[in-house]
Amino acid sequence: MRKMCVQLDEREIPDNPFQPDMWRIVRRYPLTGDVNFYQARPVDVDEALKFNYTPGQFVMMSLLGEGEAPFCISSTPSRPGMLEFCIRNVGTLTGTLFGLKENQTFGVRGPYGNGFPIEKMEGKDVLIVAGGMGVAPLRSLLLYVLDNRGKFGKLTYLHGAKLPGEMLFREEFMQLKERDDLNLLMSVDKDDTGKWTEKVGLVTTLFKDLGPIDAKNTYAAACGPPVMYKFVMAELVKLGIPKHQILMTLERRMKCGVGKCGHCAIEYLYTCIDGPVFSWWDVLRMKELIGRGASDKAIA
Ligand SMILES: Cc1cc2nc3c(=O)[nH]c(=O)nc-3n(C[C@H](O)[C@H](O)[C@H](O)COP(=O)(O)OP(=O)(O)OC[C@H]3O[C@@H](n4cnc5c(N)ncnc54)[C@H](O)[C@@H]3O)c2cc1C
Ligand code: FES
Repeated sequence: MRKMCVQLDEREIPDNPFQPDMWRIVRRYPLTGDVNFYQARPVDVDEALKFNYTPGQFVMMSLLGEGEAPFCISSTPSRPGMLEFCIRNVGTLTGTLFGLKENQTFGVRGPYGNGFPIEKMEGKDVLIVAGGMGVAPLRSLLLYVLDNRGKFGKLTYLHGAKLPGEMLFREEFMQLKERDDLNLLMSVDKDDTGKWTEKVGLVTTLFKDLGPIDAKNTYAAACGPPVMYKFVMAELVKLGIPKHQILMTLERRMKCGVGKCGHCAIEYLYTCIDGPVFSWWDVLRMKELIGRGASDKAIA
């Protein structure tokens, strides 16, 4: 028996890029009926402060016997020690992750992907447009800019959801609305409560209330369902924001997360290492990336 253990140890691959670290759930609560919020940190607490990342990056999360999948980091690196995630229950792995309770563990490897070009964005105005689950990576960017407020210009955040009960982080954003160094606007497609005090309409209706925009000096970041991109990109281009300064986070099915398996390839790009943040300039050259018609001439 002892001999067998030694043999297994000897077979261990040093610096295996696919070896996850074990993380523990510190806090978990529902954001909506099918989306849970998690705060987690490495089981080895000494590793917690060593985990550096950029807003917009993702990790591969795994559970033994269930599989592995990519998830955006929703927290900001400016508040180290703990990572935050939003997980929507859509299938096998997410269903089991959704059921995990505080103190239970799961595997994490990463961070992966390019993230937002924070250094280039410094000194510029920032306009963030989030729809539905798109808030997951964009909350990281929003909190990062708020924590480093002096390094950025004007900050605007537009947030859309289908219904008030489906708006992720609704209470948190209601509180952030009080800040005078942030213009935060929210909308729902439909108010089924009769108590919604913000706008009703698609997220694009919020563009009317933006006020003056210094387009050439602005970086825009958008994330949401594929249908949202077509209309949001049209608005951002209409404002005059240069296409290379319009950024979007895209989802693609992934297996390895490190540019080895080819599952996430689009033409010559790998979403896991060249993305998931792309500029609208990039996307116009990869039409099938977000669905037919998303990059038609009217927008370009
Ligand atoms: C970079 C990136 C970041 C992500 N961030 C988050 C996040 O923060 N929170 C979150 O909840 N989810 C996120 N996702 C999506 C998440 O990885 C998938 O929901 C997950 O892989 C589903 O696994 P499952 O085993 O639960 O689903 P499965 O049982 O494999 O599938 C359930 C259903 O969902 C469909 N499906 C599964 N994965 C995808 C996919 N990637 N694209 C389209 N359809 C799919 C399947 O076809 C099936 O219909 C992200 C994906 C990417 C690529
Ligand atoms: S997920 Fe394997 S190459 Fe991108």
